[in-house]
Amino acid sequence: MHIKPLTHNDSGRFAGEVTGIDLTGHLTADQIADIEAGMDEYAVLVFHDQRFDDDGQLRFSRRFGELEAALGGEMAKPEDRRLKLELADISNLDRDNRMRTADDKVRLNALGNRLWHSDASFRAIPAKYSLLSARVVPGRGGNTEFADMRAAYDALDSGTKAEIEDLITEHSNAYSREVIGFPREDYGVHNQDKLRPVRHRLVRTHPVTGRKSLYLSAHIGTIVGWPVPEARAFIRDLTEHATQRQFVHAHVWRPWDLVIWDNRTTMHRARRYDDLTDVRDMRRTTIRGDSLTAPQQQAA
Ligand code: OGA
Ligand code: MN
Repeated sequence: MHIKPLTHNDSGRFAGEVTGIDLTGHLTADQIADIEAGMDEYAVLVFHDQRFDDDGQLRFSRRFGELEAALGGEMAKPEDRRLKLELADISNLDRDNRMRTADDKVRLNALGNRLWHSDASFRAIPAKYSLLSARVVPGRGGNTEFADMRAAYDALDSGTKAEIEDLITEHSNAYSREVIGFPREDYGVHNQDKLRPVRHRLVRTHPVTGRKSLYLSAHIGTIVGWPVPEARAFIRDLTEHATQRQFVHAHVWRPWDLVIWDNRTTMHRARRYDDLTDVRDMRRTTIRGDSLTAPQQQAA
């Protein structure tokens, strides 16, 4: 297995292209450890020509830990669901593999992926890796962009670093949906338990490398102890800082790419494509993290 760096910034390498390994075949513990070591350094790894079917993707993903159920799948009615619960459906297709129409609720909800985010940051124990497999890619558009939150942290001035060191943020999927215009009152009325805000540190330390990173996400609604408008304005400033071009790598998809990213140290977003006329079928598995990042509030 060989890793070619795709970008560099002042903090080091970010995003690597991996060759010389077939992820659909049997992999030894050493090979998995090599991938994990690559993830620790690059935070995003791109593998081409990995012809996964769903079961193969699930099997490979489980080598990195326990899988999460997809929130979209959990919130969707069973009859609207196209894939198994452990596969997040990152496509514009319905259960009958027809393109979703303009006003389809599932389509509109998925547009939240266009905001910079970290997967499942709305869970008290947030996600570790995400693995996204491209089965069908559109003719134009639909890139995924990744931002290096280690480099973004490193580039802050020392005053800002001191100020944010112990800040705690609140994340909920309801906040990111509010940003794209879903009215607070009717988003997820039947799923209030899944939308209750959870708390996270704004600055996280990677358990293996010890590197600090900014833990930002579109799901952040406030900072504990701050007035909401002030918190949101500050989070917006930090997000703007963290997503400057020198911290970003854009992935241009080919069919059968598999991209793995570390949600603890990166943010990502989907870019636009013509989803009413062009098919994009991607499937994501998500590895559960192993700990809280901050104490949770006692239920009232
Ligand atoms: C995801 C996601 C972005 C994209 O799968 O978690 O945000 O480009 N995808 O589809
Ligand atoms: Mn995502």
